[in-house]
Amino acid sequence: MKMGLFLLLAFLAFDLVLNVSGNAEGDALNAWKTNLADPNDVLQSWDPTLINPCTWFHVSCNSNNSVTHVDLENANLSGPLVPQLGQLSNLQYLELHDNSISGTIPEELGNLTNLISLDLSSNKLSGPIPYSFGNLQKLRLLLLNNNNLSGNIPMSLTTVTTLQILDLSSNNLTGDIPINGSFAYFTPMSFRNNPGLKPQEFPPPPPMFQIAPTPSAGGPTSP
Ligand SMILES: *[C@@H]1O[C@H](CO)[C@@H](O)[C@H](O)[C@H]1NC(C)=O
Ligand SMILES: *[C@@H]1O[C@H](CO)[C@@H](O)[C@H](O)[C@H]1NC(C)=O
Ligand SMILES: *[C@@H]1O[C@H](CO)[C@@H](O)[C@H](O)[C@H]1NC(C)=O
Ligand SMILES: *[C@@H]1O[C@H](CO)[C@@H](O)[C@H](O)[C@H]1NC(C)=O
Ligand SMILES: *[C@@H]1O[C@H](CO)[C@@H](O)[C@H](O)[C@H]1NC(C)=O
Ligand SMILES: *[C@@H]1O[C@H](CO)[C@@H](O)[C@H](O)[C@H]1NC(C)=O
Repeated sequence: MKMGLFLLLAFLAFDLVLNVSGNAEGDALNAWKTNLADPNDVLQSWDPTLINPCTWFHVSCNSNNSVTHVDLENANLSGPLVPQLGQLSNLQYLELHDNSISGTIPEELGNLTNLISLDLSSNKLSGPIPYSFGNLQKLRLLLLNNNNLSGNIPMSLTTVTTLQILDLSSNNLTGDIPINGSFAYFTPMSFRNNPGLKPQEFPPPPPMFQIAPTPSAGGPTSP
């Protein structure tokens, strides 16, 4: 009888351990939660002992119980992003605008190759835009405006041909604004209010396109 109870408890404890350690995506999100200050308790439902994070508020999953959306805009969160977020391999939408997230953007976010939308705008992020963002070959929207990012715009971003909306404005970026690849379509609006950022000099037009001086007595005349 005592032995039976012991075995039952041992089994339950083992099952609990399995569940906790058995879901890498839940562990990754919980690792982030433990680094955040959450004065409004928006992460209260993030219980790492559940079998997966798919029932947590602000998290959505696909039919394989793999995380596709993390929606935590305007939630008064502070603290850093963590490298473990790069393990959410099916993540498509990471929406974190209007918080107080600080520190640098982990290079590991470049492993989120299914990302469609990354919105980290209006936070307190500093340091460079990771070169690894060139790996985000499905990204359509990248909003990093209103932070304190520094360094050059990585040339790797020009190879993200899916990119349609880019806002890097109001940061502390320096160097040249790329003009090739996906950057051919972005206007100065995407880059404004970065005092150290220089528009690349467009080459002067070839002579044949220069406006010829108007001949003084030329042109059609009306009768
Ligand atoms: C779920 O997993 C299966 C097998 O790994 C895969 O074929 C399928 O595309 C996945 N579905 C989604 C929505 O990711
Ligand atoms: C956000 O949190 C700070 C404390 O960290 C608090 O003073 C402030 O009122 C909160 N704002 C909102 C909108 O909840
Ligand atoms: C994720 O990215 C980092 C840095 O970009 C890299 O060193 C690491 O090997 C990657 N991890 C996986 C699992 O791809
Ligand atoms: C912005 O980051 C720089 C370091 O890159 C730091 O010296 C400065 O204090 C930061 N500014 C703000 C407003 O956080
Ligand atoms: C921009 O960076 C410089 C040098 O790192 C720093 O002194 C300055 O405070 C930063 N500007 C802002 C708005 O944070
Ligand atoms: C844009 O030009 C830079 C060099 O100036 C290069 O490294 C990058 O690969 C180019 N991008 C594309 C899409 O060709």
